[in-house]
Amino acid sequence: MHRSSLLALVPSVFLAHAATLRNRLDDTNVGLTPTMGWSSWNVAQCDAASEEYAMNTANKLSELGLKDLGYEYVNIDDCWTAKERDGNGNLVPDPNKWPRGIRPVVDDIHAMGLKFGLYGCAGTLTCASYPGSEDHEYQDVQLLADWDVDFWKHDNCFTECPVTPPPQTCWDYPVSTEPWYAKMADAIQSVKAQKEILFNLCQWGRNEVWTWGDKYGHSWRIENDNWGDWESVVRIGSKAGEIAQYSGPGGFNDLDMLFVGNNKLTHNQERLHFGLWAIAKSPLVIGADLTKIPTSSLDILRNKDLIVINQDPLGAAAAPFRPSNSNSPEPVPGEIYPYWTGPLSNGVVVAFSGANGAGDFSVKFSEVPGLEAGEHCWKEAYSGEEGRSDSLSFSVEQDDIAVFTVTDCA
Ligand code: GLA
Repeated sequence: MHRSSLLALVPSVFLAHAATLRNRLDDTNVGLTPTMGWSSWNVAQCDAASEEYAMNTANKLSELGLKDLGYEYVNIDDCWTAKERDGNGNLVPDPNKWPRGIRPVVDDIHAMGLKFGLYGCAGTLTCASYPGSEDHEYQDVQLLADWDVDFWKHDNCFTECPVTPPPQTCWDYPVSTEPWYAKMADAIQSVKAQKEILFNLCQWGRNEVWTWGDKYGHSWRIENDNWGDWESVVRIGSKAGEIAQYSGPGGFNDLDMLFVGNNKLTHNQERLHFGLWAIAKSPLVIGADLTKIPTSSLDILRNKDLIVINQDPLGAAAAPFRPSNSNSPEPVPGEIYPYWTGPLSNGVVVAFSGANGAGDFSVKFSEVPGLEAGEHCWKEAYSGEEGRSDSLSFSVEQDDIAVFTVTDCA
């Protein structure tokens, strides 16, 4: 995808950083829209990095209709290997967790029409102290290609740091993380003829990764972890609003894996979490145990209108906007602003966030960047409510969100 064709459709409010946008992996065939799938980490951390979880999840993705909605990656996070490499320096799948090894599981998952991902780290160890890929980048990527693995998440624990021994994270020191990701990206490029691997930079937003992540990968984490609490949703969601312009086809801000269906957030908070991640064009990676997920959470993850917005080919992330004629509040850094919008290939998305309180929200279309004044057709994603008018008015509960797709009326 070439950014020049895309920019013509992007309202001027989103153009502020256009000059910084292009380095992107223009020749990519994967990751053109945000990754959709599941990951083991938020489910049960190390305990979920097994064949049993991978296969149960693959079956459930099909059974629950999630696969048909686009959730296709079954990603295994930290702790899938043994604690030591083998005599040839290769990573070894933990035999207790992977009795058949990795390749037969990948084949089974591919036969189900799904994809398979693994996790590793730029440092000597992963964050949970399993072998990292430092100085083994090419060897590890060759293994991934031989196993037909579709996705790689590259973390940044136990990396070079100006203190000895290196701490788990080197947050406190001004170290450039870019060379580590560049090296892994080169390794991934080197096997491209054999296997194209989607590359996720798990980089926590260090060194303003959103300004350069697209040179190397298809998505990059913009913040520290989503810990599954409301504060994390607010911290990460508000950050995404500040850097929306860096997302585009083939390279997206990654707001981190979802906590929908983990009994950690209220129903409204789960709706806002998912709705905001969807309009911010984040990867939508389920972090719940699909064998136990409550139906109310499943229904959020299966919201087709939000998935269509997230997977829109334009790939432009929504950002806060301040309606000129309303009593809209001053933006407060670190808070989720009540009004959001962004371009879609068939119109615009508008969202009202109740993160700062319930309210009756209202905006005229003339106040929305990218929309002409006058009548438009709209549909709200969670309620299914539809209308035709020159403005939007909607009641939003505390911590809930309303997300509207606004189009020209046929
Ligand atoms: C880091 C990452 C998480 C997860 C864990 C695994 O904290 O940011 O997403 O992968 O490591 O140890």
